[in-house]
Amino acid sequence: MDHFLEITLPRYRATVPDAPPVIANIWGGAVEGYAEVARRIGDAVAAIEMNVSCPNVKEGGHTFGQDPKVLFEVVSAVRAATKLPLFVKLAPNVPSIVPYVRACEDAGADALSLINTIPAMVIDVERRRPVIANGSGGLSGRAVHPVAVKVVHDARAATKLPILAMGGVYEAKDAVEFLLAGANAVAVGTALFSDPGVVAAVHDGIADYCARHGFASVAALTAGGLQ
Ligand SMILES: Cc1cc2nc3c(=O)[nH]c(=O)nc-3n(C[C@H](O)[C@H](O)[C@H](O)COP(=O)(O)O)c2cc1C
Repeated sequence: MDHFLEITLPRYRATVPDAPPVIANIWGGAVEGYAEVARRIGDAVAAIEMNVSCPNVKEGGHTFGQDPKVLFEVVSAVRAATKLPLFVKLAPNVPSIVPYVRACEDAGADALSLINTIPAMVIDVERRRPVIANGSGGLSGRAVHPVAVKVVHDARAATKLPILAMGGVYEAKDAVEFLLAGANAVAVGTALFSDPGVVAAVHDGIADYCARHGFASVAALTAGGLQ
């Protein structure tokens, strides 16, 4: 927190011309930890996004995002600790996203971020060991995209909260899929590791799609939805 507030943020604002607003992604090992981070951020950023795919250290290690009651509790605690717009970033590996969407809504979240990574494992068969030192990790990128589109679609049917969609966006088509499924905005993660220019290309490609299909804006595209 100290490093982020005292070094990272000031350096970002000093070095990025017309620096876009920052959404700070936060996590914790316990409910109070999340609230404490939100309080310490104050109004240093434009919004807070809660990563609830973290083990609940106090309550046996299940993640906060895999029990709607616990999710309600942790989102309520952060809601009470900040006046900033509050996004909750949900995990897709649940039987249905709907109870989790409701818990966020009931606890006062302003928006949803969908989706976080999916727990996954790769084994090096020659060495007979997991490929990554941690044993397993979070799957992202192209493989998770159809999973994310379905979660966005199901969440949209259950809520009017704004949805920030992410998961395997590499080109405009991927982003348009999310918007047609009901997302209000789209984020790019893994694709940036191989192509830092991808955001500009996706942005321009969405504009082309809107022009070709007669949508005056991204909001019109989201509202138009599926046929
Ligand atoms: C290396 C890496 C680190 C990540 N760290 C976080 C994190 O700290 N908090 C979080 O909420 N999500 C984290 N994510 C998940 C991404 O933000 C995103 O939800 C997910 O990767 C799907 O989008 P993508 O396919 O565009 O990467 C991370 C993903 C990757 C690949």
